[in-house]
Amino acid sequence: MALEIDVITLFPAMIRAPLGESIPARIQERGLAEIRVHDLREWGLGRHSSVDDYTYGGGAGMVLRPEPVAAALAHVRRPDSTVILLDPGGERFGQARAHDLAGRTHLVFVCPRYEGVDERIRSMVDLEVSIGDYVLTGGELPALVIIDAVIRLLPGAIDAESTTEESFATGLLEYPQYTRPATFEGHPVPPILVSGDHGAVRRWRLKESLRRTLRLRPDLIADRPLTRDEARLLAEVRLEEAAAGDDDVAPG
Ligand code: ADE
Repeated sequence: MALEIDVITLFPAMIRAPLGESIPARIQERGLAEIRVHDLREWGLGRHSSVDDYTYGGGAGMVLRPEPVAAALAHVRRPDSTVILLDPGGERFGQARAHDLAGRTHLVFVCPRYEGVDERIRSMVDLEVSIGDYVLTGGELPALVIIDAVIRLLPGAIDAESTTEESFATGLLEYPQYTRPATFEGHPVPPILVSGDHGAVRRWRLKESLRRTLRLRPDLIADRPLTRDEARLLAEVRLEEAAAGDDDVAPG
């Protein structure tokens, strides 16, 4: 059964165009996800289909009114819906939430524009999500980021091995990968990768995953329990890094 997604936005073209290309387009063509985009202005108020207004108490900028959002949600919401408001103050989006959303049946994204939303809109949603500590001009790009991260996890969307081995899925960054040529500008491919010894390749990849994670995202290692094999390889990595005089990585 397809994951159904409704997006409520004042700029439908901003959502449609990126999802009409490449892998997201293929995922929809193959019926794994069904994405519908709605123009919030359809539920705007009065002759000008107004969706925003000045803020009570005074202050700069316009605020999204609650009635158009309520009417749009009345149109799309079902008992199984998860309604998500994009907001820089929301929960920080990550791979765990992407997996969680990929397991649901109906997602609704509310993309605010303007300076913010009427506070009463918050009680209409199940989840407020941010894609990072910076402020964008609206919720469209965050909605796209989340939709992209979620639909690629749907069963059959992409090669299962890609999503089980990639960065974060294992709690570690991905190991280095190489393709042709065998030597590029004097840099050869690590010989073990062309040795044909699958066990050795697996160990090398795990070790290099640990090395890369230790260098770039030591917080991920600190937060993650290690198997005995991982702990042993990590100890080797720490010794090698210390011997190489890398001051960034403390020997364990
Ligand atoms: N709207 C504006 N900035 C945002 C962000 N960083 N995440 C989610 N929604 C937003």
